[in-house]
Amino acid sequence: MKNKNIFLTIVVLVLHGREILSDDGVLYVDYYKDKCPLAEDIVRRNVEIAVRKDPRMAASLLRLHFHDCFVMGCDASLLLDSFGDMVSEKLAGPNANSLRGFDVIDKIKYNLEEACPYTVSCADILALAARDAVVLRGGPTWDVWLGRRDSLKASFDGANNFIPFPNSSLETLIANFKEQGLDIGDLVTLSGSHTMGKARCVNFRQWAYEVSHEEYHDKYKRFRTFKRILRSICPEKGRDDVLAPLDYVTPARFDNQYFINLVEGNGLLHSDNVLVSEDEEGVIKKLVWGYASDEDLFFASFVNSIIKMGNIRVLTGFDGEIRKNCRFVNIKGEL
Ligand code: HEM
Ligand SMILES: *[C@@H]1O[C@H](CO)[C@@H](O)[C@H](O)[C@H]1NC(C)=O
Repeated sequence: MKNKNIFLTIVVLVLHGREILSDDGVLYVDYYKDKCPLAEDIVRRNVEIAVRKDPRMAASLLRLHFHDCFVMGCDASLLLDSFGDMVSEKLAGPNANSLRGFDVIDKIKYNLEEACPYTVSCADILALAARDAVVLRGGPTWDVWLGRRDSLKASFDGANNFIPFPNSSLETLIANFKEQGLDIGDLVTLSGSHTMGKARCVNFRQWAYEVSHEEYHDKYKRFRTFKRILRSICPEKGRDDVLAPLDYVTPARFDNQYFINLVEGNGLLHSDNVLVSEDEEGVIKKLVWGYASDEDLFFASFVNSIIKMGNIRVLTGFDGEIRKNCRFVNIKGEL
């Protein structure tokens, strides 16, 4: 009997060891099923509370996952605070004075550490919170692939270089996404995230005030009216932090209205509008029209693309760690 127990213990250790050793960059839907059965519930409950208190938080949480994944992969490098000579990604141009929701992530992590210490990574929390946020605002749901580990460092320069700019040309946006292994379809589909949330005047001013050559043509007349509205919100100088909804029709809902707006010339950012205005070949325009007329099609593609985004250079196996506090790497010898 005693021998049998020892035997079972060894089998369990070996199996457990193999799981830890898997270093194949592969994620699993059931990753926490045995390790931390309540993990997904804890995340969802916290996201629900946060979004009920502040509906915009849904958009902010979705954006955190994106800004994490585009810099060294989905490894929660975004969540690290500055420490020693490592500068936080939070201070980089696209993030500073813009990203929100770090306190929500801290709260989730605190609850998870109480339930299952050193088990659920901060990178996985970001992926789960993004899904729950989309669902809460009326968007599609999906199974989140899990088992990411957290980075040991941040990349301030990476955050400045790899997160796309709102004043980029279509060509640059395509290149930005390609660098991450994402294609033109993913660019269009994931831009649909701008169906909720807000942007600051500083990020749409250039678009609102520049009058491109093409706009004198009738074809682009539609941009002119909307730009007049934008100028009334965002003066040529000052009031940089005044907000406008990315989707002015249904700003709080995750739906396909963003694409309808684009067709009508009413995107908020330059990077939104170029999807229709700079697409010479018409492939992208076709996608935009497709999503504008078929929400189910957009939802199905969105699920596909965000799972793809969530897989960008994930850390598994012996790489990285499970952080105790999402803001700091673990102290050596702590575990
Ligand atoms: C295609 C390139 C993209 C560019 C140039 C871009 C740029 C921006 C900018 C400038 C803002 C406003 C920030 C501010 O004014 O403080 C914003 C907001 C937002 N972005 Fe993007 N973005 C892009 C793609 C994405 C993707 C792929 C996602 C998600 C998967 C996303 C999700 C969001 C959300 C939800 C907001 C609103 C956040 C809030 O209200 O707190 N964006 N984006
Ligand atoms: C985009 O804006 C930044 C400042 O935020 C500026 O440095 C850059 O030149 C602009 N790029 C384009 C293509 O207008």
